[in-house]
Amino acid sequence: MSLFAHGPLTRFKAQYDPNNQEFSISGSVRPQTIEELAPSLALLKDSIDRVRGILYVNVKRLAQMNNTAFHAFARVIIDACRVRPDLKFVIITSSVVGWTTRKFGRLSHVEPTITVEQYDSAFYPGQSFLEEGGFIPILRTQTNMTWRHERAILPRHGMRSGITMADICCGIGDFAVLVQKEFQPSRIVALDHSKSSLAYARQIAADFDIRGIEYTYGDAAAMLLEDDQFDLVTCRHSLQIFNRPELILKELYRICKPGGRVYITNEKISHCLGEPRSETIQWTYNELSKLFAHFEMDLELGPKNRRCLVEAGFEDIRGESFMVTNLDGDPQEFADVVQSWEDTFAGEMAQQRGDRPEFIKRFRRGFQDHIFAALHPKGYAGWPIWVASGRKPL
Ligand SMILES: C[S@@+](CC[C@H](N)C(=O)[O-])C[C@H]1O[C@@H](n2cnc3c(N)ncnc32)[C@H](O)[C@@H]1O
Repeated sequence: MSLFAHGPLTRFKAQYDPNNQEFSISGSVRPQTIEELAPSLALLKDSIDRVRGILYVNVKRLAQMNNTAFHAFARVIIDACRVRPDLKFVIITSSVVGWTTRKFGRLSHVEPTITVEQYDSAFYPGQSFLEEGGFIPILRTQTNMTWRHERAILPRHGMRSGITMADICCGIGDFAVLVQKEFQPSRIVALDHSKSSLAYARQIAADFDIRGIEYTYGDAAAMLLEDDQFDLVTCRHSLQIFNRPELILKELYRICKPGGRVYITNEKISHCLGEPRSETIQWTYNELSKLFAHFEMDLELGPKNRRCLVEAGFEDIRGESFMVTNLDGDPQEFADVVQSWEDTFAGEMAQQRGDRPEFIKRFRRGFQDHIFAALHPKGYAGWPIWVASGRKPL
């Protein structure tokens, strides 16, 4: 059952999902009079009458709400707490619309059966590694190396000048900068959930006087961006870090224009390789894959790109792979990438899993041997990446 309300000052959607016992309200709720809200208040009351146990009130995508509306919804919930002491209310907010946690948080002080949960404060197991500043050096060195390949690949996946594009999970925003210089899209939105990465991106843009990239704080699984907006939506090395990548793909699909394309890249980390010392290198990357799996991240996702896109409803799937190697440019760049992996993965991540010192020593050895192979005058070191894109049907 769902209900929509539109008007000059009211542009929001309220709906009730009986399977999840969830009443959700999204958009901008700014009525001038309480009468404008009558249908959605009735829907909330009706939802309360139907549920047993917990009613979830989802305000994750509530961009704005004026006081008239807030008090009207709060009144219905508080009255229900008094009449139905058996019922609990869980209000789900998001840091993307941070005011919701503060404002709705007040209700939990008034009524003990109301709790407020900011759902994206710990919403996937690897979040702490990826959103803290320590990941910045990894991203910076990686993009330098992948760009040599992707600049040639991207036009086969819908990149051209003048398009509107979004880079979702943009990290420190360096890919957006390179795209802007090379292809000059008419609009680039670059969205990430790491405040430290976005701060870094904005600083770089200011330092180098790069204009026109809209760096945006957001959650890729529940974006505030509107439907059907972008000719090309990119999401690089990121689906592999979520325990439920299909939720992100659904959002990438939603914001892509019909006829536009979604472009993804992912790894199969156990296929990193090097000569000499291939065996110790192989061992470490197999272990690296298991380490990520421990935190529910699938660093083997690359060859599953096609399946992911088909299952998300895309057509005209195009796929290819490329190998970043020590022969691409300065071998030291490759060595720097591997060193940044060792620092984070054999450092903070392995420690958090509780790995023993002997394991960590052996684990580090493979990274060092990969560096040795990269810098060796007769050596070879590789890091394979899988690229795919799909078209959203018209
Ligand atoms: C492996 S990094 C890849 C970054 C960038 N695309 C690149 O290739 O350099 C994954 C990125 O996803 C971001 N991220 C994680 N969860 C997110 C979410 N729910 N919404 C948006 N970004 C998220 C992290 O902050 C991180 O910057």
